[in-house]
Amino acid sequence: MAEKQKLVEIKNLKQYFNVGKPNMVKAVDGITFDIYQGETLGLVGESGCGKSTTGRTIIRLYNATGGEVIFNGENVHGKKSKKELKKFNRKMQMIFQDPYASLNPRMTVADIVAEGIDIHGLAKNNSDRMEQVYSLLETVGLNREHANRYPHEFSGGQRQRIGIARALAVKPDFIIADEPISALDVSIQAQVVNLMKRLQTEKGLTYLFIAHDLSMVKYISDRIGVMYFGKIVELAEANDLYSNPIHPYTKSLLSAIPLPDPDYERNRKRLIYDPKEHGYSENEEVKLREIRPGHFVACSEKEYKEYKSQYS
Ligand SMILES: Nc1ncnc2c1ncn2[C@@H]1O[C@H](COP(=O)(O)OP(=O)(O)O)[C@@H](O)[C@H]1O
Ligand SMILES: [Mg+2]
Repeated sequence: MAEKQKLVEIKNLKQYFNVGKPNMVKAVDGITFDIYQGETLGLVGESGCGKSTTGRTIIRLYNATGGEVIFNGENVHGKKSKKELKKFNRKMQMIFQDPYASLNPRMTVADIVAEGIDIHGLAKNNSDRMEQVYSLLETVGLNREHANRYPHEFSGGQRQRIGIARALAVKPDFIIADEPISALDVSIQAQVVNLMKRLQTEKGLTYLFIAHDLSMVKYISDRIGVMYFGKIVELAEANDLYSNPIHPYTKSLLSAIPLPDPDYERNRKRLIYDPKEHGYSENEEVKLREIRPGHFVACSEKEYKEYKSQYS
């Protein structure tokens, strides 16, 4: 990337859920990162580590427990007028994991895709509205004949395309894709990823791409953040993260990916991450520190020195 302009700044974001006293689920526990204009930031981690909550809090489906989200220089959270909220709603869209659950089965594809067009008054009249729907369907690899059908008539991959068309309808700048391919057959996953890549180039989109493992996310992400129990433990350029993983949790995630290489597979060892091995003491400050240029790892001061001598 030539010029790196921040589109989204996430500052010490927290989302705690009160699940009956005294239990508090710290789903997102103070995460800080930026997403640059036009990039794809992958967010990876095992189920339950807080990825969806991160996405939902950024897009304001939840009120944050703490911290800030700055979008294009403006704070997304806090008191906002209806007009301001509507503007954010249009600029940020979300694509969901389950293309079955996220499309209303009683609405036609046209009405699903046009939902945002209707809410934001983006069509001059009905024929303009339908022209926009047809054009969106073609953009995502469907066709105008699909407009009057219902979600159940489509395959999983096609439904995800409908979800993408719905998100694109309001001409957003930023799309949060929450495991958009996890529910799809492997053979279909690459098609949807390729579609998203093409749309990104054509429309200058910025993505937060959430995934639970590190296999597919490599092909779409410029940078990747690894999440563990509500925190980011490593953040780096995608290639650097794969070739030089530093945090033991990232290493364990990478060791779980099978490769179509018999030699590699014969020797592949699944690394198990045990957070106790860090042996952090009470007063040690564990935070993201830069080990190599642009490569951040959550660590103590002591680990920082070790990582520096080993990896920089
Ligand atoms: N609405 C909610 N109420 C209470 N706990 C929740 C809620 N949503 C998520 N959680 C909890 O927060 C943690 C993170 O969940 P989630 O963000 O869905 O993780 P991921 O998307 O990485 O699988 C989990 O422990 C989950 O049970
Ligand atoms: Mg999730």
